[in-house]
Amino acid sequence: MPSFQTTPGTRDILPPDAARWRAFVEKFASVVSLAGFQHIVVPMFEDLGVFQRLGDATDVVTKEMYDFIDKGGRHVALRPEQTAGVCRSFAQHRPTAPWKVWYGGPNFRYERAQHGRYRQFDQVGVEALGSDDPLLDVEVIALAVDFFHDLGLRNVVLNINSLGDSGDRSRYVDALAQYFQSHIEKLSPESVATLQRNPLRVLDSKRENEQSVVSQAPSISGYLSDEAASHFAQVKQGLDALGITYVVNERLVRGLDYYCRTTFEFQSTALESAQTAVGGGGRYDGLVEDLGGPATPGIGFAIGLDRTLLACDAENVFAHPSTQADVFVIDTTGGMQALQLCQQFRNAGLSSERTYGARAMKAQMKAADKSGASFAVIIGTDELSQGVATVKSMVDGNQEEISLESVVRHVATQLGKVIS
Ligand code: HAM
Repeated sequence: MPSFQTTPGTRDILPPDAARWRAFVEKFASVVSLAGFQHIVVPMFEDLGVFQRLGDATDVVTKEMYDFIDKGGRHVALRPEQTAGVCRSFAQHRPTAPWKVWYGGPNFRYERAQHGRYRQFDQVGVEALGSDDPLLDVEVIALAVDFFHDLGLRNVVLNINSLGDSGDRSRYVDALAQYFQSHIEKLSPESVATLQRNPLRVLDSKRENEQSVVSQAPSISGYLSDEAASHFAQVKQGLDALGITYVVNERLVRGLDYYCRTTFEFQSTALESAQTAVGGGGRYDGLVEDLGGPATPGIGFAIGLDRTLLACDAENVFAHPSTQADVFVIDTTGGMQALQLCQQFRNAGLSSERTYGARAMKAQMKAADKSGASFAVIIGTDELSQGVATVKSMVDGNQEEISLESVVRHVATQLGKVIS
């Protein structure tokens, strides 16, 4: 018989990690709901054309797309991110702007799999469509800052930059291309190839021997229009007003092409691997129009769930939620009492567990110990004949007999839970 394992770049998220994932998404939802963002679910695959808008010079589009022809002959692709899907959705449904939505879920990129970089990875993110107010940029960035803070992370650095408007950007790209062309002998063959496709991405080079040429490349700030420069100044002012610390990083170019004006990235300094970006985002004022919608500015970010949890591990924060039951029911009379009592506890909103297969008292007690439950509720033949159960605190070992009718209420009271 063949035996199967997960394919490279994918992982099983086993218990209790999966509960931690869910808690992560729930925490994100609660942070962004406070700012009026509503949940949206966009499809996991779309027409390839939707994702081609991410930029025909980006690796995400040219090398990493999981695309295929479906049985109806449509060329579709698994989503590599969710901003394009959200903008397609806005163009399709034309909701009232501003439209503020959040999402979570898996994305797919055929990347070189390594620690912190997967082919299927999860993100949570927000998109706010319909306003180019720089203070919206600040509010969006502040949400990510708050979320990292709420997770307990203290070693996340915010880098910001402005890529200007599309005219500024293309003038800058021309200047960069010219600069790198005149120093082409100092560039690695990989960077020379990148230069042909997308001069901005050469700034991303981490190769030691070309750092001097990269660091002396022209800066975007010299190419910003007055409007874009003033927009960026207001973003910085707003961040200052909220006491959010940041680094202006003029070398920050994002891996997707739709960005203009504000761009930002969050780096974890606690992560030692090559993959330290835990989130990123920015403005994409032309994307909705590119997807057939009305001219609509937009800004958002996505946070990589897998990688942010690695940062949480590195900082020893955001532990697994407790999976311990409230009650462990031990029944040595055949199991029917455990069946009924567990059900009563659950109906009252208390979590309850038990063993199966008529195990001996000792084995059941051992299982109760191992479960970490707060109380054991024990029913043996003596208890059953008297219509009582022994309620044992697993914390201090104290035990008392309680009538079967009141055992649920009794345990609930002990746990400080109100039941109706
Ligand atoms: P991105 O920078 O491509 O932006 O991804 C955002 C985050 O997703 C990254 O910082 C990283 O934490 C995580 N991530 C990306 N690729 C992988 C991978 N292969 N394995 C693990 N984690 C990964 C976007 O996706 C944009 N849609 C963000 C955005 C929203 N911009 C505007 N709105």
